[in-house]
Amino acid sequence: MAETTPDSTHITGAAGWECDTADTDACERTARTLCTGGNDQVDSPEWVARARDAWEDLPLRLRREVRRFRRHSGPSGTLVIGGLPVDQAALPPTPALPGSVQRQATVPAAVLTMVACGLGEPLAYRAEKSGALVQDVVPVPGQETFHGNAGSVPLSFHTENGFHPHPPDYVIFLCLRADHERRAGMRIAGIRQALPHLSPDDRQALFAPEFRTTPPPSFGPTSPHSDAERRAVLSGAAEDPDIRMAQLVTTPLTPRAATGLTEFGRACDASAHTLCLTPGDLVIIDNRVTVHGRTAFNPRYDGADRWLQRTYVTADLRRSRDHRPDDGHILTG
Ligand SMILES: [Fe+2]
Repeated sequence: MAETTPDSTHITGAAGWECDTADTDACERTARTLCTGGNDQVDSPEWVARARDAWEDLPLRLRREVRRFRRHSGPSGTLVIGGLPVDQAALPPTPALPGSVQRQATVPAAVLTMVACGLGEPLAYRAEKSGALVQDVVPVPGQETFHGNAGSVPLSFHTENGFHPHPPDYVIFLCLRADHERRAGMRIAGIRQALPHLSPDDRQALFAPEFRTTPPPSFGPTSPHSDAERRAVLSGAAEDPDIRMAQLVTTPLTPRAATGLTEFGRACDASAHTLCLTPGDLVIIDNRVTVHGRTAFNPRYDGADRWLQRTYVTADLRRSRDHRPDDGHILTG
């Protein structure tokens, strides 16, 4: 189970619980029904449909907690569920190639996709990781300083794909392997806990459309939306806003926006928690209200490095229909 290390004495950690043995076994049995042979392709609409149906066969407690989180993601905007099956004995070496994704059905990919279907529908972007629904988050040789999932230097706070007209509502990570030294930490900061650290002036600045967020490096140079429109970092309810930002690629366009963004970063640092994930830990992040990042770690590229798999989720697939050819799960624009 993830160990939660508070970065601040003010805040309680992410919500979380551990599957018992019976729940783990039930999850594994259900996941294996989706891994019946070489023709089980994660990205096929038929396989996703099977995963959607299989969600109903997962243990009641898991389904209930996920659905409660969907209604309200709580103070930290994050839910950690430990003890999920990741098929340790059959796990291949951690991939070390750029752009690595999971196309073949596996137990971990099935777990991720079933939970995605419990929250909404899985989603991917054609310009990122070749549009795969289940993506590897692994360190890649030569990309240590890359500011994205292939790096191993600290990764600054961000919501996923805030530049896009349709960012994911949730991001799910499943830990297959921890890093050798157990140094890597997923940092999370929820707006419900960060907001009290912001002054009225800073909040006003963050609600003004005086920022531009461009695609992250993982989208590559040919990504659309590189000339992103002006947006606010915070939107919606003053007391419980939504966030769109990435410290690396959000540019303030006015002096007050610059001050607001700096203070937003401080508020996130003051309210952040660091999750040290162990194999079988599933982390669901409400991407609308929570930023995340990562501490540094030391990859060895020996096949046993840190390995997470990631899936994006939308609560309302219909909303992005004009960006998805053939009503699939991949956004092309
Ligand atoms: Fe991220």
